[in-house]
Order: sequence, then structure tokens, then C-alpha cells
Amino acid sequence: MATYALWNNKGGVGKSYLSFQIACEYARTHPEQNILVLDVCPQANASSMLLGGIHRGETELNKLSISNPRRTIAGYIRSRISSPYHSLRNGAEYLLHVKQINKYIPGNLFLIPGDEELEILASRVTGATMPGPDDAWSKVHLWLSDLIQDVKQSWKVSDLTVFIDCNPSFGIYTELAMTASDRLIVPFSADGASRRAVRSVLNLLFGVKRDEGNQRSEYSVKTKDFRLSLPQIYCYVGNRLTQANYSSANAFKTVVEAIGTEIWDVWRRNPNHFYVHPTGGPPPRDRLSFKRMFQYEVVDANTASVVSQALGIPIVELTAGKWNLVGKTATVNQSQLDKQQPNIRDLVATIE
Ligand SMILES: Nc1ncnc2c1ncn2[C@@H]1O[C@H](COP(=O)(O)OP(=O)(O)O)[C@@H](O)[C@H]1O
Ligand SMILES: [Mg+2]
Repeated sequence: MATYALWNNKGGVGKSYLSFQIACEYARTHPEQNILVLDVCPQANASSMLLGGIHRGETELNKLSISNPRRTIAGYIRSRISSPYHSLRNGAEYLLHVKQINKYIPGNLFLIPGDEELEILASRVTGATMPGPDDAWSKVHLWLSDLIQDVKQSWKVSDLTVFIDCNPSFGIYTELAMTASDRLIVPFSADGASRRAVRSVLNLLFGVKRDEGNQRSEYSVKTKDFRLSLPQIYCYVGNRLTQANYSSANAFKTVVEAIGTEIWDVWRRNPNHFYVHPTGGPPPRDRLSFKRMFQYEVVDANTASVVSQALGIPIVELTAGKWNLVGKTATVNQSQLDKQQPNIRDLVATIE
């Protein structure tokens, strides 16, 4: 059991989509555990899906934003702004039992929803890291770790599986999420920006410099000074690499290949930043075994993904047929599902 953050320093690669699919499938296949999803993103996309999709989910998020206290991650952050250096042990008050709102979600999945108010609060969180006690920076960076601790105590468990959906930018909330997590799942797509992002994750998190002239990130320096922990890279998920609408299949392949080389290179230079899966055999020695342990591909789920997100139905629970999407009909084919459901199931089976 561990805390997994889904992060890449790039938007639109599938962090939220995969957080939703992975957390639901993990909860379904681990009915003996309670699973926690933390949505640390102001867009709250993963929360919207979990709470029922574009119609129901958005309505629920609106309701939560006027609840008092606000039962979202922003509610918790507000409470910590008022007590930055002492945990109030109140984290469990913000939990939502998702099944009570969306019947398609496994009953053992709990959520602390994302909230657009995070943006407004960000400068106050950053502000709290500066004055105050010598270890202010470290105390503030532990807020989400405190929150997870509160949930563990309230559930009376010593261990917990948590999935954190992050904002792409390496802002204060992503920093807090990184400090709270043990393992990192990095979704990427087939483009040059993804290739750059693969490198910048290394610098931003671990301070690995590409060139001598580069600066180390302040986060990596301070994390070391304060001896805070960092996540290890658990896997890279190439998402939607098989999109058919690329004009040049060859150019597309070249990009995917270049990203593969980049990732392999990261491993060869920095194997200590990776989490070698005990279930996946010994540390990889060649590119093929590396790929087997650390790289996955998630196919483009086409109409099924649209229905899954719009209605908040995990793809593994979706059935073939016609679905009504806010007034329009979408058809999900069994042949699509036959490919996509095992794809998500297999990915989740590799997550301990
Ligand atoms: N495997 C997939 N198949 C089909 N659509 C996908 C898939 N993964 C992501 N998407 C879509 O791509 C868009 C970006 O995904 P999202 O999860 O919001 O990215 P991020 O959170 O990294 O910004 C969304 O519209 C999402 O529905
Ligand atoms: Mg997102």
C-alpha cells in the first residue's frame, strides 16, 4: 500500500482520466481496503468524473463549494492556513463517500474533491512557508501528509492506498502532493512537450541537472535540507499513443521512440529515483526488461472514454449499447470495450 501521485509537468496527458480509471479499478479489485483519492487540482476533473460526470458531478461540486465547512481540498487548505504549523487532525472531516453520490463507484472509495478555490488560496499557502518558525517550509509541505495521517487514524489503519491527481504546473500544491507521495506515475502523450516534461520532472523533483549551467529547483534543495521524502518513479504511462488521427504515422512513431529513449536514459543515469517493483522481477538490465517494468501503454478509448467521463462510469463497468449524453446518443461498441477494459485492468494489476 502506498500513496501514488499522478503527475507530469504537462497538461492534457491524461492525469485526471487515469486517476479516475485507476482509482476505481484499484478499489474494485481491493474490496478489503478503503481507497482514498485526493484531488489537488483546481480544475477538479477527476472529482467531477467520480461524482457522476458533466451533469451530476458538476452539480455536486457546485453544492460542495457552498457547503460550510467546505468539504473539498480547499476547505482543508483553508483550515491549515489558519493553523499552518500545527495539524488540527481534522482531515477526515473532508471525506466524501463517493458511492452515496454515484452508484457506479465502488463502495470502498473515498474522495477529497478538487476545488477551483485552490487558485485563490495558493499565495497564502506559499506565504505560510516563509515567515514563522525555522521549519515553516517543511511544516507547510507536510500538510497533505498530515491529511493522509488523519484519514488513517480515523479509519484505524496503519497503511492506506492513496491516489493523488495533480495540477500540471509545479506550483505549491504539486509540491505538497510530491512530499506526501511515495510513488509517482507519469502519464505522457506523443509530442515534443512530453519529451521535455520527462526531463523536467527529474530536475524539478530530484534536482537532476541536464547541463552544468542549469539551476537546481528550490524544491529539490529544500527537500534535501529538511530531509523530507520524495516519491520514486513507479511507471510512465504512454497514453493514447495509438491515436489514428495523426497525419504522419511515421513521424508519430519517431516521437514515441524518442520519448522511450529519453525515459530509458533517465533510468540508466538515475536508477535510485525509480521504485523497482518487487512483483516485476529484478532490476532491469536491458531496454526490454526496463520497458516491461516501467512503461505501459493505455489505448485511446474513443467513444467509451467520452461516455465514461461524461456519466462518471468507470470504463471497466461500462457496457456496450446506446448511452444518453445530455440529450445526445453515443454508442459504445463491445469490440471497443474488449480492448479497453483489459488495458486498464492490466495496468492496475501492476500497481501493488
Ligand atoms: N485513454 C484515453 N482515451 C480517450 N481519451 C482520453 C484518454 N486519456 C485522456 N483522454 C482525454 O484527454 C483529455 C485530457 O485528459 P486529462 O485527463 O484531462 O489530462 P490532464 O489531467 O493530464 O490534463 C480529456 O478530455 C480526456 O478525456
Ligand atoms: Mg487534470
